[in-house]
Amino acid sequence: MSRRLLIAGNWKMNKTNAEAAAFLDAFLPEAGGRPDVEVAICPTFTALRTVTERTSESPVMVGAQNMHEKESGAFTGEVSAPMLRELGVEAVVLGHSERRQLFGETDIAIQRKVPAALAAGLLPILCVGETETERAAGDTERKLRQQIQTDLAELADERLAVVTIAYELIWAIGTGNTATPEQAQDAVAFVRALLAGRDASIAEGVRILYGGSVTRDNAAELLGQPDIDGALVGGASLDPSEFAAIIAQAPRRAPE
Ligand code: PGA
Repeated sequence: MSRRLLIAGNWKMNKTNAEAAAFLDAFLPEAGGRPDVEVAICPTFTALRTVTERTSESPVMVGAQNMHEKESGAFTGEVSAPMLRELGVEAVVLGHSERRQLFGETDIAIQRKVPAALAAGLLPILCVGETETERAAGDTERKLRQQIQTDLAELADERLAVVTIAYELIWAIGTGNTATPEQAQDAVAFVRALLAGRDASIAEGVRILYGGSVTRDNAAELLGQPDIDGALVGGASLDPSEFAAIIAQAPRRAPE
């Protein structure tokens, strides 16, 4: 099965509205060359409207970096899926390791957010991955199994294919220490095998990205791995020509 590659830029807490607009002015003319690759940009909440409006005539998908699972209510500081949809947002990153580590986000919260995102029409990009200590202790597979089982527990097997998963080695995020292509492939293949435990044919169609210090220099090799269906790019997505260069590195997958 041929899965379409997705290159998603996670801007984290970077770029004002004016900076987001300047990025798009430079990036959009460069980004049109690969209709076979899906591209997403995930800005801060405050830049979402600017980015959805300015990309409305382009195939670039816009994602948020988080959401609350409830539609509305007394949840100070939170934003809901329908609020994002109203702005033209199409995707949402859920369970990023920074949210888990710095803001105490739990697997149970993520378990509720996945169906809430889908119910509102948002594509969830679910992040999973192990810390350096867990990898050194040989705990990678246990951690991934626990995250995949818990985070997707509220999703029926036949709906698994609508979720995109991002496997991120937490120690590779923002450090410049990328996983080797083999390490990334092995972990992503393990995630796919976990999904296959629920439904083998659906698991073949689930898009699984790699994230962690992806740059124009390592993108081709990482994206050339058979189970890696794209990248979640942090730091390198802040620069329009660097991000465009990563997209250009994506291998061309044979259509089915
Ligand atoms: P990085 O971030 O590319 O800066 O390592 C990746 C991520 O956190 O999604």
